[in-house]
Amino acid sequence: MKLFKDKKIFLLSFLFLSSCIEDAPLDSLSPAGPYARSIDELFWLTFWIAVGVFAIVQGALLFSVFYFKERESSPEPKQIHGNNFLEILWTIIPVLILAVIAVPTVRTIFDLAREPEDALKIEVIGHQWWFEYKYPDFGITTANVLVIPEDRPVRLEMWSNDVLHNYWVPKLNGKRYLVPGQTTYLNLQADSPEEFWAQCGEYCGLSHSKMRGRVISMTEEDFASWVVNEQSYAQKELPESSLAAEGQVVYLNAGCTQCHVIDGVWDVQGDRIAPNLTHFANRSVFAGAALKNNPENLTKWLANPAEIKPGTFMPNLELTEKEINALIAYLGTLK
Ligand code: CUA
Repeated sequence: MKLFKDKKIFLLSFLFLSSCIEDAPLDSLSPAGPYARSIDELFWLTFWIAVGVFAIVQGALLFSVFYFKERESSPEPKQIHGNNFLEILWTIIPVLILAVIAVPTVRTIFDLAREPEDALKIEVIGHQWWFEYKYPDFGITTANVLVIPEDRPVRLEMWSNDVLHNYWVPKLNGKRYLVPGQTTYLNLQADSPEEFWAQCGEYCGLSHSKMRGRVISMTEEDFASWVVNEQSYAQKELPESSLAAEGQVVYLNAGCTQCHVIDGVWDVQGDRIAPNLTHFANRSVFAGAALKNNPENLTKWLANPAEIKPGTFMPNLELTEKEINALIAYLGTLK
């Protein structure tokens, strides 16, 4: 541990080791779809060209330092200032290298921007601090967890409801801004069924770091049944368990409906400023994907949302423990 006596060395080695973590969910160097792969290929091509340039330049430098070292008998070195041939040569070489890199770079930029045929359209709306997803073809509104079919291109049409955000699923594509009053586009495609992490990539206020997301790719059949389930009302009748029924009363009376919608309950239509909760129990995460969806986390969240996500617009409703337990039982029925 003597080596780590110096705090800086310790922190630096930690930073270095953090780049070696296996299966890091936000690792942009392990692409899982064609768009991310084309970026990855471009990265490695550029990287190895840079390594080659580095090796040649450093090699020539080190060779010169030792081979042409000043010795006692050394004559005055030949002066090359103003040598036109050399000036032109070391201008043309970098220009050629940049031109070679520019060809695949420009091609990749255009490939990534092109609208794929047969793409599924999904709208992504940025909010402080969560992502909302709408499937206009299916009439579905959901939040935090984006569900897509495997091996099929998805065309995201994105904008922001408030400030600048940035949508980033490192394993599926690069980043793209979500801008208020302007639509931006991003293509995603996943090779196989998997769960991916998303992260807001632009500082957007107090809880920016907790503005995360999940993207779940499913087989064609699983996706189709997910769509059918999402299109139905999770709740057609009063909940069976008495605790859940109590929870619905809390939901309707404590103020939740000012901001949230559960389709089919209380005839509330249209958008609200907070996530649509219709199929809340099927989502693996909540609160901007900052928390796993389980009773323990829900208890913490409902007791004091701002403690989890500073600046959140979800107020502390001063719920009692009993009300919180009932609400959690009710939310658990929304499948
Ligand atoms: Cu949204 Cu950072």
